Amino acid sequence: MTRDDKRYEVVVIPGDGIGPELTEAAVGVLRAAADSAGFELALTTHEAGASLYRKLGRVMTDETLEACRRARGVLKGPVGDPAVRAPDGTEAGVLGGVLRPGLDAFANIRPIRLYPGVTSALAGRGPGSIDYVVVRENTEGLYASRGRGFVTEDVTLDTMVMTRRGVERVARRAFAIARQRSGAPGDRRRRVTCVDKANVLRGFAFFREGVRRVSEEFPDVELENMYADAAAARLVQDPGHFDVLVMENFLGDILSDLGGGTIGGLGMCPSGNIGEGAAYFEPIHGSAPSLAGTDRANPLSMVLTGAMMLDWLGEIESARRVREAVDGVLADGAIAIRPDGTVEHGTRAAGQAVIDRLKR
Ligand code: IPM
Ligand code: MN
Repeated sequence: MTRDDKRYEVVVIPGDGIGPELTEAAVGVLRAAADSAGFELALTTHEAGASLYRKLGRVMTDETLEACRRARGVLKGPVGDPAVRAPDGTEAGVLGGVLRPGLDAFANIRPIRLYPGVTSALAGRGPGSIDYVVVRENTEGLYASRGRGFVTEDVTLDTMVMTRRGVERVARRAFAIARQRSGAPGDRRRRVTCVDKANVLRGFAFFREGVRRVSEEFPDVELENMYADAAAARLVQDPGHFDVLVMENFLGDILSDLGGGTIGGLGMCPSGNIGEGAAYFEPIHGSAPSLAGTDRANPLSMVLTGAMMLDWLGEIESARRVREAVDGVLADGAIAIRPDGTVEHGTRAAGQAVIDRLKR
């Protein structure tokens, strides 16, 4: 295949709330990147999430799941609506319980990076001083109990599942990522921090031991153990210490949002749910129904999510250029993030600013 006929089939799920406007901004940027690099993105849009649940009583059709499995890439906006509930009281419109096991996307890769021009909630932090990756186990842990917990009028029971294979494969992914990076901002050491509560629960001790076993395959990367409560404090007080963190599903859900809170909000946070052969990419935040349609939401989470998808497609140089463009527009003030996480000149203008920068 020549460079000219490179074509990638990509499933796009715009999602609920602010999802469609973020997706529009990100797709515009991806198209501009593709045009300038000379590849084609063949996008197919699928409805899934709370809006579909309202119509069909299910969040995703089998056809869409199959399309996600077959596609080269999947770009998904935030989904869900707190008003749309399953009979058991949990939120019905979310897709993690379908796509993560459905694609066996076992590693949830969540880069936390402070961009230039963005004011951190942590005093005195400049660009580059916060730059780590949370690797969240994505198919087991406490959330394996999703939809399966034991519930009576008086008692509930949710079970945390850890398997040897599950722990080892996510640990291996974390070490592989650390190997590709240039270490923690603080000391430039390649480091994987295993975050758990091994002091309290045996399951976490099992997780810790699995990560330790895998670390032997990566003698060039330092292994460190930290309890999750202590890690929460250190992520606030000394974020430059961290390079790559690996942890169980529920802990990763929470600590990755904590990280987002230090870099200008969740609107700056992309992610990739990456398995062996399949993957899907989404911002880490929700669908913010109250912001929907107001042209105020920060689209950079979704733009940076698009860049992660480009990496997955093998378009590494284009991914780098998109990130560089985001860097540029934030540094020169073309996009300004407000303290509440929304963008100064609007969602659409922000997307356009990235495109203009890319074309320079
Ligand atoms: C996330 C989200 C989901 C999760 C919710 C919406 C089910 O918070 O991707 O972090 O907890 O996995
Ligand atoms: Mn979350």
